[in-house]
Amino acid sequence: MSNLNKRKPRCRIIFITGTDTGAGKTVLTSLLLAHLRHHRVNALAMKPFSTGDRDDAKLLQEIAGREMTLAEVNPFHFRRPLAPLISARLERKRVQIADVLARIQQVSKRCDVLLIEGAGGLLAPLGVGFNLPGLIHRLRGEVVIAARNKLGVINHTLLTTGALRQLRTAGPRVALMGCKEADDSSETNEILLRECEPSARFVSIPWLAGDLTSATVVQACAKQLGKQLAKLLA
Ligand SMILES: Nc1ncnc2c1ncn2[C@@H]1O[C@H](COP(=O)(O)OP(=O)(O)OP(=O)(O)O)[C@@H](O)[C@H]1O
Ligand SMILES: [Mg+2]
Repeated sequence: MSNLNKRKPRCRIIFITGTDTGAGKTVLTSLLLAHLRHHRVNALAMKPFSTGDRDDAKLLQEIAGREMTLAEVNPFHFRRPLAPLISARLERKRVQIADVLARIQQVSKRCDVLLIEGAGGLLAPLGVGFNLPGLIHRLRGEVVIAARNKLGVINHTLLTTGALRQLRTAGPRVALMGCKEADDSSETNEILLRECEPSARFVSIPWLAGDLTSATVVQACAKQLGKQLAKLLA
């Protein structure tokens, strides 16, 4: 067989961003990772930037069967829970986009699907002169948006899809994340969003019971949500 035939197909890179911090990115990334691995897809996940604690990265590491070190899952960690750029500056550190791309590319060689959780919302400054859209563009990534299904989600989602349009990525997928206390808007948000953003794909993820910081609980939830998760990945 020639070398050409042996070459691994390009890894599919999917960025999970949110309409805000706390929108449900980790819940969604961990569900997608558990779903893919349950279906025997060679999937890994990264949270390249984290500030404050490293709990998100630890959960992704656990769901991926500890195939990666914490430093591989989360190469850029800064102590103060602020936007990564400012948290790094407070430690007198500077992160260049080339360093981040190199870390992601290393991991992408080891898997067929790589999920990448962003930090905060789409435009949060990550390093010197770049944010998540810079990484999405350079890696020709796909995008899934976690959006909290409550009043205000239409504006936040349209701002996010609008910012993504400049990247000319395929139509974005949006996961409307259920809230513990749904408000009056929760039933109609999806209908209105479909009208406003017909090129996007929308999926609803309900509010889930149990401790979602536990890999076992996430894996069980992912089995229940197989249809919705498959639709987000299609
Ligand atoms: N569908 C859901 N069911 C139950 N709990 C949820 C759901 N979506 C989000 N949560 C909870 O909401 C909180 C915020 O979610 P999550 O940590 O996933 O947000 P995030 O966007 O990753 O935040 P950060 O910006 O800090 O990384 C968590 O406590 C999470 O368990
Ligand atoms: Mg998170």
